[in-house]
Amino acid sequence: MDYRRFETNLSQSYDRGADQYRRDDEIEARSENHQRLGGNLRRMCRSFGRPVRVLEMGCGTGRYFHWLDNTELLVGTDISAEMLNRAKQPVHASQVTAREVRLIRSNLYEMKFEPQSFDFIYSLGVFGYGAAITSELCAKIHSWLAPGGRLYFDALERRDSGRVYEMKQSMKSAVLPFLPGSVRQRVEARRQEAVPVCNHTRAEIEQLMTGSGFDDFVISSNTCHSPLWTGMHLECCARKMAQNKNSGSTHANADLRRSVPASV
Ligand SMILES: C[S@@+](CC[C@H](N)C(=O)[O-])C[C@H]1O[C@@H](n2cnc3c(N)ncnc32)[C@H](O)[C@@H]1O
Repeated sequence: MDYRRFETNLSQSYDRGADQYRRDDEIEARSENHQRLGGNLRRMCRSFGRPVRVLEMGCGTGRYFHWLDNTELLVGTDISAEMLNRAKQPVHASQVTAREVRLIRSNLYEMKFEPQSFDFIYSLGVFGYGAAITSELCAKIHSWLAPGGRLYFDALERRDSGRVYEMKQSMKSAVLPFLPGSVRQRVEARRQEAVPVCNHTRAEIEQLMTGSGFDDFVISSNTCHSPLWTGMHLECCARKMAQNKNSGSTHANADLRRSVPASV
């Protein structure tokens, strides 16, 4: 995926919407959908039975920070500086218990962490508008997780095999050469920078997960009816093998403080 092409448009559109998004947090945090997702996050944090190091990819305004429990370090990353600014005072800030929160501005396809930096990695509401799950990203996530670490993310669901979408795209491309020159140039320029909708089928996510070394995962399909959005999401919950195949060692407790950069 050529994410660089529309990176500026993507971050600017979230920068512009940051104030509204933060106001919406107050509404969304009361929704059934939010309670369900937040409850899942809390259970996953607690399942370790010890303090954990957590990475949220595309944390936005920090809508889910207050659900994390048992968290010694929370690293929140996002492409939008304005969303991250709002995450400094997230919804239910007084209930955020993470001992340390680091906010890092980064495109998720360019994030770099040492192997085994995190026990738990999650991402909600990110894979859909301008962000897709790719095999490279899945492989990086797998390496950033400590043995026994957990991954939880959702993604906009597509039920067809992709052929309908491809057909629509090729029909649009077929029409393009017949448009007058100046119109064609404008359409092409807009297409170049437009932020794409990236949705996935269950089969695609299964393939990506298996291909990146996750053999223990569950994918479910959920229709979300939040006050602000209605749509279908796939949710994936995965665990990295507790035993490191290569070294034969069990759970590693690498010192994350050395491997994760400070906040923006
Ligand atoms: C719909 S918001 C979700 C925010 C938060 N996870 C939540 O559930 O409220 C999507 C967030 O993903 C971020 N995002 C989208 N694409 C990204 C990318 N390629 N790299 C980093 N962040 C990205 C956006 O800036 C935005 O803050």
